[in-house]
Amino acid sequence: MAAVNGEMASAGADEFWLFGYGSLIWKPPPHFDRRVPGWVTGYVRRFWQASQDHRGTPEAPGRVVTLIERSFWASLADAHDSAPEKVWGTAYRIEASHVAEVKEYLDIREINGYTIHYTPFHPADGSPSIRTLVYIGTPDNDQFTGPQEPQALAEHIYRSEGPSGLNRDYLLGLEKALNELSPESGDAHVTDLSDRLREIEAKSKKGETDIQEPVSPVSHEFRRVSSVDEQEETEKV
Ligand code: BEZ
Repeated sequence: MAAVNGEMASAGADEFWLFGYGSLIWKPPPHFDRRVPGWVTGYVRRFWQASQDHRGTPEAPGRVVTLIERSFWASLADAHDSAPEKVWGTAYRIEASHVAEVKEYLDIREINGYTIHYTPFHPADGSPSIRTLVYIGTPDNDQFTGPQEPQALAEHIYRSEGPSGLNRDYLLGLEKALNELSPESGDAHVTDLSDRLREIEAKSKKGETDIQEPVSPVSHEFRRVSSVDEQEETEKV
């Protein structure tokens, strides 16, 4: 990869880079040979994408993150009315010999409203930016929910579950993964929802809430073996 005077590094013809800002941070794709912490700009991360296939079901969709263009987000009424300039995450370089296989794997992820975009990624170590592929659920997709009231959103996440597991594990996993990336990679939207969720869990343990527990709509043992879910589980590092 060539770096020219701080400009975007040009990737080799048959390699590609992928930016993860959600579960990809802690569940890498197969066959990556470099994993780089860093950020993108111009976006805001929000739990505004309904999930019917991973952390919820078609009957009871959960909530996962998407990226919203910052200028569009600024035009919305969001109770979380600030957002970091940098959206932290992880970029993965996929080995040339595995690009076709990984693209097929990623195409599965595209289901449920996400589409492919490209954005410059800035490595945390200050090395030149990299053009990365990123999956985004844009506001025109059917699963985009728009602004959510934080307490209602935390309660929704608390009671949701899908083939990839509990929605609350996705939220808390994201909070942990972000905190581990860098001292400055925390995201107040994610932390506030996590704090609310922990409070709901604590109240639930004491029998002080009537929020419904997940009803296990999908048996994890019988989930689709050809789907990304299985790969997500086997690619844990
Ligand atoms: C992510 O982790 O960045 C991600 C994964 C699948 C779809 C969209 C985003």
